Amino acid sequence: MAVELLKVDYRTALSSKPNISTSSNIYMTGDGHLFCENLCVKEIQYELAMKTDYASPFYLYSRAQIVDNVQQYKRSLEKNDVPHLLGYTVSANYNLEILRILQKLGCSAVVASINEIKIAMMAGFNPNMMVYNGNGKQLNELEFAVKCGVMINVDSLFDLEHIRKVCRMLHKKANVLMRLHPEIDSDSSQDITETKFGLHHKEFDKALQIVKEEELVDLIGLHCHLETTLDDVQLFKESLDTMLFWVDKVREMGFDIRYLNMGEGIGLNYKRHIPQSDEILPETKDFISSIAEGIKSKNICLILEPGISIVGNTGILVTKVVGVKTNENKNFIVIDGSMAEVIRPSLYGAYHHIQLIEPTMCKKEGCVFDIVGPIGESSDFLAEDYYMPYPHEGCGLAIRDVGAYCGSMSSNYSLRQRPAEVLVEGSRWRIIRHAEVFDDIVKPFIGLPSLGVYKDYIDTTEVHLGTLHPWLTWMH
Ligand SMILES: Cc1ncc(COP(=O)(O)O)c(C=O)c1O
Repeated sequence: MAVELLKVDYRTALSSKPNISTSSNIYMTGDGHLFCENLCVKEIQYELAMKTDYASPFYLYSRAQIVDNVQQYKRSLEKNDVPHLLGYTVSANYNLEILRILQKLGCSAVVASINEIKIAMMAGFNPNMMVYNGNGKQLNELEFAVKCGVMINVDSLFDLEHIRKVCRMLHKKANVLMRLHPEIDSDSSQDITETKFGLHHKEFDKALQIVKEEELVDLIGLHCHLETTLDDVQLFKESLDTMLFWVDKVREMGFDIRYLNMGEGIGLNYKRHIPQSDEILPETKDFISSIAEGIKSKNICLILEPGISIVGNTGILVTKVVGVKTNENKNFIVIDGSMAEVIRPSLYGAYHHIQLIEPTMCKKEGCVFDIVGPIGESSDFLAEDYYMPYPHEGCGLAIRDVGAYCGSMSSNYSLRQRPAEVLVEGSRWRIIRHAEVFDDIVKPFIGLPSLGVYKDYIDTTEVHLGTLHPWLTWMH
């Protein structure tokens, strides 16, 4: 669409190079512009709007940050000489381009559904090195996994029975790990004695007997996952000690245990952008060194399943301000991003740092706002009671740290179209996922007997659509 969307020329406005040294690849310059690697986020927002009709909001990822995060793992695993599989949890972010990057960096894939197996294979991951998690795997999913040679984490006695049934039907062996409760107090909101995941140790003996008698099921490892954000190295170490105890016990029973899968949960400090925050999390290398000796002493291959710590800090949601309003007790910044793109605040009360991506043109004093989306739900908020400069309409605003469990948890609620995804690589950016269009949303209805009615409706309304670009409202 050849429309002059914004009068500000960000190329000239930003002729001065960023001069702020930072350990993050997404950072604020001294003149109040958010940068990703060498590029100004506002400029990307502007260029994307020129290229596509519905360009806001969009997810933006830094390739350099993905590489840094993987290298942190690789460096400490290699430095400590720990035999390992670094299995990236695909549920955190399944963008195909991001998966390809991770595969090339030497990660394996941890999957939780048949479609995750398929997309991981499309990205080039070796199915024999994949681990398949889940407490409700269906027979058809297990059939696909066994055919592809994926390692399967056994979650329950019935899960084991299903795996056995599939192996017999296919006359094919499956490599399995058993998921156990480490039975330690993780001090999390989740009571691990009530979790729906994994075999309780009382069922474990039974499961071992079944595997012993079944030549098509090969027990090659044990697995645990603490279901909490690990903010304490000691907790990780304690769960390792418990698991090593089980490794010895199971080996004594004659099983050739080659893998110990410690799950993940190494946290990202979402509050690190707040200068006054006293929240400090241990680094990846601290977790690795705490378990390195234990792993090596058992001559076993460590599997890790990180999600958040690989992609969490690599992405932001770039939005714009639709308007600012004040009710009697509250001020609201209404943006074009919503809980449909970043559900973590409303789902878990999670904190995401929020910043304007450019200096505000509004002269009013900053104040405390709720930052909310346009969806008709009061839970549609990105932050509550949050101090911000007073933004002008159309001002760019970024939700930080949305690389994990945001795009992958996004929805079409309120018939929102999932946004585009953009990857920055040094001084270039490119689209790595197209924004959905209305046709994608109505596709599941096409072919139904009543299609004619829908079609007529679309045909008549089409006449009235598409003349007003969302950005025109903010031409200055
Ligand atoms: C079994 C399992 N492994 C690994 C992960 C990844 O955890 P995180 O993204 O916190 O590292 C999850 C997340 O839900 C999980 O359920």
